[in-house]
Amino acid sequence: MTLNNTRDDWWKQAVVYQIYPRSFKDVNGDGIGDIAGITEKMDYLTSLGIDAIWLSPFYPSELADGGYDVIDYRNVDPRLGTMDDFDKMVEAAHKAGIKVIVDIVPNHTSDKHRFFKEALKAGRGSAARDRYVFREGRGKNGELPPNDWQSLFGGPAWERVNDGQWYFHIFAKEQPDVNWKNPDIHEEFKKTFRFWSDHGTDGFRIDVAHGLAKDFDSKSLEELGREYTVQDQTNHDGLNPMWDRPEVHDIYKEWRQVFNEYNPPRFAVAEAWVRPDHQHLYASPDELGQVFNFEFAKANWDVDEMRTAVTEGLQSAKESGGSTSTWVMSNHDIPRNASRYGLPQVKAHTQHQIATDWILRNGTTYIENRELGTRRARAAAMLEFGLPGSVYIYQGEELGLFEVPNIPWDRLEDPTPFRTLRNFTEKGRDGCRVPLPWTASDEPRPASWDKDFGEGASFGFSPATRQDGSASADPHLPQPLWFKDFAADKEATDPDSMLNFYSKLLKNRAQLLTATGDHDSIDMLDMGHDVIAYSRPAADADGHSFVNITNFGAAPVALPANATQLMASADLDADGKLLQDASVWLLATK
Ligand code: NOJ
Ligand code: CA
Repeated sequence: MTLNNTRDDWWKQAVVYQIYPRSFKDVNGDGIGDIAGITEKMDYLTSLGIDAIWLSPFYPSELADGGYDVIDYRNVDPRLGTMDDFDKMVEAAHKAGIKVIVDIVPNHTSDKHRFFKEALKAGRGSAARDRYVFREGRGKNGELPPNDWQSLFGGPAWERVNDGQWYFHIFAKEQPDVNWKNPDIHEEFKKTFRFWSDHGTDGFRIDVAHGLAKDFDSKSLEELGREYTVQDQTNHDGLNPMWDRPEVHDIYKEWRQVFNEYNPPRFAVAEAWVRPDHQHLYASPDELGQVFNFEFAKANWDVDEMRTAVTEGLQSAKESGGSTSTWVMSNHDIPRNASRYGLPQVKAHTQHQIATDWILRNGTTYIENRELGTRRARAAAMLEFGLPGSVYIYQGEELGLFEVPNIPWDRLEDPTPFRTLRNFTEKGRDGCRVPLPWTASDEPRPASWDKDFGEGASFGFSPATRQDGSASADPHLPQPLWFKDFAADKEATDPDSMLNFYSKLLKNRAQLLTATGDHDSIDMLDMGHDVIAYSRPAADADGHSFVNITNFGAAPVALPANATQLMASADLDADGKLLQDASVWLLATK
């Protein structure tokens, strides 16, 4: 059901499914997911009931950062396919009524990008170096970095090159930051937006949208005298030299002109880890148009934190003057939500710290209560998907996959665990990037190197053999044997599976909720401190109200008398009351 997709503003109430291409589906048997794999699974995506797919980077890359180190912005990584495969994929998606969003990484390139190679060759003071941020070092012989800014992945944010100059990188050293004061950079990215738009792409996800403008004339972090670590990406008082600076918005106003060259205008969503009351600046109709609200992704399973996530998300859309809210529980940077909700919820900690610590100790420090995690993940989906605005789902979330915390160190791909500051104190983000299980029958045998993982087969992620008859390679990240229970084909035949729950939820949503309403068309209902409840007009012929009630408290909650139940995340009790950690969708007469 893709009711929205005929409208120019399809993105305002869309269900967007994030694909991490290397781990979605491998067609040629090299153990790496590919573009043709996405085409092959278009029927699956259609029956799930999504409106759009967002593809994390699939461009040529050395994978210093999972593809977010782009060598060529206008091509497909040969390991993932060709431009022809891309065109075919877009054609299949559009035929199925599914829009296509690609990921643009404008803060930095790969150090193997032609611009950076030119910069290294051309030497100090050259026009080629001005496309990046090159500076002389401090100290007698320039042996110290130009300032004390730190990379987000750990260690100094500066790297020295052969002739003695230093270049700036806020992420890995293989990801030099570009200089957005240089006109070539503006031209390059405009060209990239037009290239993908001309190839049928409907929109863009903008990586690190709050980071493009930096004040290199600013004082050192030490002189600024506060907690100006790069880790704190919040621009509390406009003084943060790296994040969420006002100048960044001029760049997006310029891009908007390019997006509006197309009919319908191309869509964009900002990845901006900024304070909630700054989000709307990125989502203005004169700029990117939409912004991720990460408050749900950050929140504990806690009624106060969840309620704040809802109100801030609605408020942000209101202030943007034309955007809609976005609801995000998980993505490729965050431990999987079904695991987070099954770990201890400690107020003083963020959930991520708990999960990160648990992953570091291979899933042993805390007990992961999977039953509870799943129960809460179902309730959370009902709470979020009933809200006005767009929903972002990360691949595997619909299968109820858990984080894989115990990937052996020597199989990890994410660079962050190995960077100076982290230095084996974190295992990084691979546990949510493990290739998807498609078929339960295609079960790997226990791997000799670790009995929890499999080798040989891949739960249908790769075919059994390649075209030349040789056996397929193992998946690029190891799959745990428990993935069998979450294989898509198994879940498809189980009426109680997360997959069937998600598709039912999305179908109800498409029928009743997406034709109506923005952030104003919702009433929060007061059903006590432990309950989040709201109502919205339902788009049914009888003029019903749609009501969602989620119970976080121990006391069962009585449901309104004038309502019929559409769906529930868990069974009600014998008196028809809503139990703890459960949610219902109702249709009520007004
Ligand atoms: C945000 C992306 O989501 C993340 O995966 C990446 O490491 C950084 N941006 C740097 O591009
Ligand atoms: Ca492949």
